[in-house]
Amino acid sequence: MYTLLDGKAVSAKLRGKIKENVEKYKNNNGKDIGLAVVMVGENPASAIYVRNKIKACEEVGIKSFSYYLSEKASQNDVERLVLSLVEDNAINGILVQLPLPEHINAEKVLGLIPAKKDVDGFSAENTGKLCLGEECLVACTPHGVMKILEEYGVEVKGKRAVVVGRSNIVGKPMAMLLLNADATVTVCHSKTKNLQEECQNADILVAAIGKPKFITCEMVKDGAVVVDVGMNRDENGKLCGDVDFDKVKDKCSYITPVPGGVGPMTITMLMFNTLQAAQRG
Ligand code: GUN
Repeated sequence: MYTLLDGKAVSAKLRGKIKENVEKYKNNNGKDIGLAVVMVGENPASAIYVRNKIKACEEVGIKSFSYYLSEKASQNDVERLVLSLVEDNAINGILVQLPLPEHINAEKVLGLIPAKKDVDGFSAENTGKLCLGEECLVACTPHGVMKILEEYGVEVKGKRAVVVGRSNIVGKPMAMLLLNADATVTVCHSKTKNLQEECQNADILVAAIGKPKFITCEMVKDGAVVVDVGMNRDENGKLCGDVDFDKVKDKCSYITPVPGGVGPMTITMLMFNTLQAAQRG
């Protein structure tokens, strides 16, 4: 029998604590905590994410400042906006929603955000500090995965962890967090030979591939902990993860559902990072 890793429940509990700490910060410092959310263009998925981020801010008492630039905005327009937010003392965190339109150099835009306001944890400084095991703002999705594991008392130390996917946003920081927590970590990707065999060795398997139901029953060891970071649509347009949940679940000790697993944690960790950014000043 498997245990469902309920990200929605963990998220609600954590948001309650964040809300209390935001309130304390405001009382002690006599000012608000501010998060700037920048969106360029009209990507419909991004619009939903941005709306949910703003809603989460309201829920925990963080003041959100949203900026919507048109698809036609120039590199200069976007950079000028970000630089004004960097200078603004009312803004503790800056989030530039990705992807940016193709004509915008995203690396250059993100490069303008100083590490202390980089609540996505994407900057070279925060990524480097994560690698060194130093205190930093950690990328929200992998950070959320660690919180879920912690909440359910899943031991990571000494376990074989396999991360499938090597993106800068999820796979790489995920591997680093597991390594920092004393797991033995393997990172697999599209060029990995014998992916099935690698996955079969995993005590903890994290799927961050971006392909619906990619992780099948044969790839999962009996008793494994399976964490699904995927957010896809199946052939019927239904939301599904990277794991074939119905076929895999009975082999697992713990498994995250999609939706209601890792997803809700991402935005919660953004709130957590914004609070931390304010507290560290
Ligand atoms: N687009 C998809 N996921 C993310 C995220 O975590 N942060 C930002 N800024 N953009 C995204």
